[in-house]
Parts: sequence; C-alpha cells; structure tokens
Amino acid sequence: MIDFTGQTAIVTGAGRGLGRLYALELAHRGASVVVNDLGGSMHGDGTDRCPADDVVAEITAAGGTAVASYDSVAAPEGGAAIVAAALDNFGGLDVVVSNAGIFGSALFEDLTHDQWRRMLDVHLDGGFHLAQPAYRAMRSAGRGGRFVFVSSSAGMFGQPMEAHYAAAKAGLVGLMNVLAIEGEAHGILANAVLPTGFSRMVTETVGDEKFLAESGFMRAIRPELVVPLVTFLASSHCAVTHRSYSACAGRYARVFVGLGHGWLAEPDHTPSAEDIADRLAEISGTERFRVPASIVDEVLEVCDRRGISAMPGGAPVSFPEPSAADR
Ligand code: NAI
Repeated sequence: MIDFTGQTAIVTGAGRGLGRLYALELAHRGASVVVNDLGGSMHGDGTDRCPADDVVAEITAAGGTAVASYDSVAAPEGGAAIVAAALDNFGGLDVVVSNAGIFGSALFEDLTHDQWRRMLDVHLDGGFHLAQPAYRAMRSAGRGGRFVFVSSSAGMFGQPMEAHYAAAKAGLVGLMNVLAIEGEAHGILANAVLPTGFSRMVTETVGDEKFLAESGFMRAIRPELVVPLVTFLASSHCAVTHRSYSACAGRYARVFVGLGHGWLAEPDHTPSAEDIADRLAEISGTERFRVPASIVDEVLEVCDRRGISAMPGGAPVSFPEPSAADR
C-alpha cells in the first residue's frame, strides 16, 4: 500500500484537470495537500478562487486534509507563499507536484514576445519559483522529498504551433535533471511526467465537438490514467530519480535522452565538413547508445575511448560498456 499518511504535498494547478485528480488521490492516500490554483483561463487570463476552494471542499468532505492557495507560480513570491502554506499549515513538506500550466498555439513566425514570455513565466519560471523554496525546506528538514515535474511530449518530441510551450516544458526536464543530481545525496528525488489526459487543455485546443466525442484516442486518454504514475513517483516507495515517464491512454513508458556511440575521429586530426557528411550515418546511429546520468558520464566515456584522463596528469579512466540495465 502506497501511503502518504503524515506527509504534506503541494500540487500546483490543482483546481482543475489533471492537477485536481493528483490532489484528490494524494489526499485519499493520507497526505495533507496544499491545493494551489490561480484559477485563470487556459490562456492564463484572470483569476478565480473557486477551483482551489472546490477541490479543498471535495477533499475535506471525503475526510481528507487540504488547504487552498491562490498564488501564482509565475512570481518568486508566489512560489514562496505556496511553500509557506505547506509549512505553516502542516509543519513540513514532502512532495511537490509542479503541474500548473497554461496553453496557447501560434506558428513560430507569428509568436509574439508576450506569448513567449507568458508561457515561460508560468511553466519554466513557475517550476523554479516553486521548486527552490521547496527544495530548501526539504534540505533543512533533512528527511528527503519527492518532486514530480509535469513536462510534456510537446517539449520532448516537438509539436507544431507550440515553440513557446515546448521550450518551457523541455526546460522543466533540464531543471529536473539537475535537481535530481544535487538532491540525491539528501534523499530528494525528482522525476518528470509527460501526461496526456482529457481536460480543457484538450477540448479548447481541439475545438471540434464531433472529433472530441467520436475519436477513439480522445475517449482513451482518460485523465485518471495519469494519476497512478504521478502518485507512485511522489511516494516514498519511489526510489528512481532523474527520469522522465510518459503516461498516455494507459501506456506508461520511460522517455530518455540517449547518447549515441557515434564516430571517433582519428586522434589529433580535425575532420572536415566533408568527413562529417561521409560519416553521417555512423554519427547518427541509434543502435548503440548509453543514457548518461550526468555530463560526467559523457566526459568519462570520451576519455576512455581516447585513452586519456579527465584530470591533469591522471591515469586513463576505465569506463565499462553500458549494461542491458543501463539501456
Ligand atoms: P488545465 O487547464 O485543466 O489545468 C491547469 C490549471 O493550472 C488550471 O486550473 C489553472 O488555473 C492553473 N494555473 C495556470 N497558471 C497558473 C499559475 N500561474 N499559478 C497557479 N496555477 C495556475 O490543464 P491540464 O490539462 O490539467 O494540465 C495540467 C498540466 O499538464 C499542465 O502543466 C499542462 O501543460 C500539462 N500537460 C497536459 C496535457 C494534457 O493532455 N492535458 C499534455 C501535456 C502536458
């Protein structure tokens, strides 16, 4: 039984959509939950306290514990206030689900600076504004913690009309990578989730009522199907860190960045652009790859293949071939 009794969780953007479901599940499993939601439109306009209040009422009516927060993650003081709500009301912080988000679409050539800024403010800056005070609180409490950053397939794979959204969501994976590396020694684990779930973000974007009602895919992407993955990654049962997982229509899968084996040019030789063109198939190959745990892995791998040391005067490093488990 994955249980959150005695733990405090923050879920941002928890007044609606997928965030609401994460908050309900964490509360159902015993967590005291800060239900944060600004209550804006899908595009990020306006505010409304009702969505957060309604979810808090739903949790408390079911016998759970929750408090509402209406702060925006897009400002440093908003992130700080959300973390303070956890510490002041529940005396600690164990779990952060960084989920708040907005959406909008524009061709890259038409994207305005304001659209770009607004998207990065909420998703990427919002992730930072929340995560830093939360991380500091977890560090000083000394009992570890769990971060789940809600990214997107748009960010990791690309989606037309979404340069701003995709850049912001991919940026969250970069943030997660480093938080996971720095946090591991302190029992603070961080992972990212790429969800797909039927919400207003889908209905307002698709717009076509008939398509929404009749598409098999639309019916298959029940938002409830994302909840188990987020719940597991938020729990103390989760021992993995520094990973991204996709949840789409009941298919759960790891998403990773692989470093190909590539082509090693002759030592002390500077290849020409023509050499790159000639070797492009080998350089682009994906049959052999590793999944580096950090930038150090890439440095050590190159040092090993070159027979050199990363450290001045040091002995050549030995770097094992990737095992099946690594891959
Ligand atoms: P939603 O629009 O139903 O819910 C998002 C919530 O975030 C809203 O209630 C909104 O008021 C809140 N919010 C927006 N800006 C905020 C801010 N500055 N501070 C605090 N709260 C704020 O959207 P949905 O679909 O539930 O999305 C949740 C997350 O999942 C978002 O980050 C979204 O980008 C991401 N996502 C969703 C996908 C989907 O298929 N629904 C696909 C990929 C990612």
